[in-house]
Amino acid sequence: MPAAPTRSLQVITGVAAMRTAVRALQQRGETVGFVPTMGALHVGHLSLVDAAAAECDRVVASIFVNPTQFGPSEDFTKYPRPLERDLELLRERGCDLVFVPEAAEMYPQGYGTSIDVGPVAVPWEGAARPGHFAGVATVVLKLFECVPADRAYFGRKDYQQTLVVRRMAADLNLPIDVRVCPIVRDADGLALSSRNVYLSPDERRRALALSQSLRLAEEIISRGERDALVVRERMLALIAAVGGVAVEYVAIVRDGTVDEAPEIDGPVTIAVAARVGTTRLIDNVQIG
Ligand code: PAF
Repeated sequence: MPAAPTRSLQVITGVAAMRTAVRALQQRGETVGFVPTMGALHVGHLSLVDAAAAECDRVVASIFVNPTQFGPSEDFTKYPRPLERDLELLRERGCDLVFVPEAAEMYPQGYGTSIDVGPVAVPWEGAARPGHFAGVATVVLKLFECVPADRAYFGRKDYQQTLVVRRMAADLNLPIDVRVCPIVRDADGLALSSRNVYLSPDERRRALALSQSLRLAEEIISRGERDALVVRERMLALIAAVGGVAVEYVAIVRDGTVDEAPEIDGPVTIAVAARVGTTRLIDNVQIG
C-alpha cells in the first residue's frame, strides 16, 4: 500500500545541496532511507520507497540514468526518461526528497576514478555486460556520498547488483545499511522492469518464459531434483518451447554468492538472462 502522502516532494539537483539536506534531517534526529533509481519508475521501485518509509523517518530517492553502466551497444540513449511522471509517482508515494543530479556534476571533466569490487562482479551479468558493474559500483558509491543516508534499498531482481553493492559497502566500510527487497511481478509473473516498455505484445508473452522457467525449477527442486544440470536443461527446454527467447545464461548459484552449485544441497538462487527481440531481460528466484 502506498504511504499516505503527508509531505511535499523536494527536488534537488546539486550535490552540495543534497548532502546538506540529508545531514540537516539527521541532525534533527531523523533517520533517512535512500532509494537509488534510474527513473522510469514502476511498482517495484515504489515498493522500495514503501520499504524505506516503513523503516526510516524520511525517504530520499534519486533519478539518474548512469551512462557508465551502459555498454556502447546498449540502450543508454533510448532508456525511458519520464521525469515529470516519476516525480508525480514519488510525490504520491510520500517520498520526501528526490536527487536528480546533472551528468556534468556526477562526472566532472577529466573524470577517471572507477570502483572494481573484484570476483563478485566477474561472472554472469559481469561477463555479459563488460564494465557494467564498475559503472554501477562507482555511481552507487558516488550517490551514497551525495545522499549520506542511514539505509539504502535495492530490488532483488538485480541479484548480482545487490551482491556487488553489499561487497563494496563491506569492503569500503561504508556507513550505510544495504537492504534488499523482494522482486515485484505483474499478475502473470513477469518481473517488473523499466525495460518491459520496449516489449511488443507478442514479445511480452514470450518474455513470460523467464518467470515460468524459474517456477518450473522451483517445482522440480521441491519434488527432489538435486542435479543443477537437470534443472538447467528443463528450464532451457521450457524456454525453447516458447520460442523467440535467446537465453544468455541460466545461473544456479549458492544463494548470496555467484558460485555455481552443481548439487542443490542448500539454498540457491537461480538467475536467468535472455533477449526477447532486442530487449534484454533478467529474472531470478531464491530457493531453499
Ligand atoms: O538498479 C538501478 O536502477 C541502477 O543500477 C542503480 C542502482 C540506480 C545505479 O545506477
